[in-house]
Amino acid sequence: MATERVAIVTGASRGIGEAVAKRLARDGFSVTINYAGEAAAAEALAQSIEAAGGRARAIQADVSDPAAVRALFDATEAAFGGVDVLVNNAGIMVLGAIADVDDATFARQVAINLQGTFNTLREAARRLRSGGRIINFSSSVVGLLQPTYGVYAATKAGVEALTSILAKELRGRNICVNAIAPGPTATRLFLDGKSQEAIDRLAKLAPLERLGQPEDIAAAVSFLAGPDGAWINGQTLRANGGII
Ligand SMILES: NC(=O)c1ccc[n+]([C@@H]2O[C@H](COP(=O)([O-])OP(=O)(O)OC[C@H]3O[C@@H](n4cnc5c(N)ncnc54)[C@H](OP(=O)(O)O)[C@@H]3O)[C@@H](O)[C@H]2O)c1
Repeated sequence: MATERVAIVTGASRGIGEAVAKRLARDGFSVTINYAGEAAAAEALAQSIEAAGGRARAIQADVSDPAAVRALFDATEAAFGGVDVLVNNAGIMVLGAIADVDDATFARQVAINLQGTFNTLREAARRLRSGGRIINFSSSVVGLLQPTYGVYAATKAGVEALTSILAKELRGRNICVNAIAPGPTATRLFLDGKSQEAIDRLAKLAPLERLGQPEDIAAAVSFLAGPDGAWINGQTLRANGGII
């Protein structure tokens, strides 16, 4: 392993991405904290990692924009000398029955969740160093398939397909490509717009009878990004307390 290992975490200004950036910094990675709009939160996170002795940069890029994603990789290489790990965490969720979803809502979720993941995967496939790891974000709704999750689940099913195929395309490069599929996790993406009753009901669905915390998911990312994940490739890991 190279002495300095470098990770890009997309969508790391809050929620799961923030916890992943903190965890990978603790694991010894230099971390690029990507964000779309929340510059202040991303900068504060970078400063807190640096204050704790780690290395971090906050870098703005909308993952749905291929040129911005190229610039994100360029800036990371300029700051840290290369890229070893990509965590494709940025994502949005807008629920709605298929009969009711408007064109713009469909297009936005495809642009960020599916095309955004494609954009970063393409750069990573071209640039990651030997020994690298790619960790994509799916969702357990790909297995649960509840009403109103149609468009979101479809984007995440696409991410799972990209994961398995890229793992095979990178044969000979010594790079592992996997996905994590969280269940309900206590972040704005899950909590916003839900009643307390709905949150409590969903929290009880898993046999462990609680919501996932961002740190639970960060621990799974840490495993896949670290030495113990070396033999896991082309898989989707459902980190969800047993909900499915
Ligand atoms: N929470 C759950 O229950 C759950 C379950 C299964 C899967 N997931 C998946 O886990 C991932 C993280 O979700 P979360 O719950 O942590 O969500 P969150 O709290 O809403 O955070 C989303 C992050 O993504 C960033 N982001 C959004 N659009 C972006 C774009 N176009 N380019 C770059 N960054 C962008 C946001 O940054 P800005 O605010 O700066 O835009 C924010 O940092 C997502 O892929 C989600 O689908 C979550």
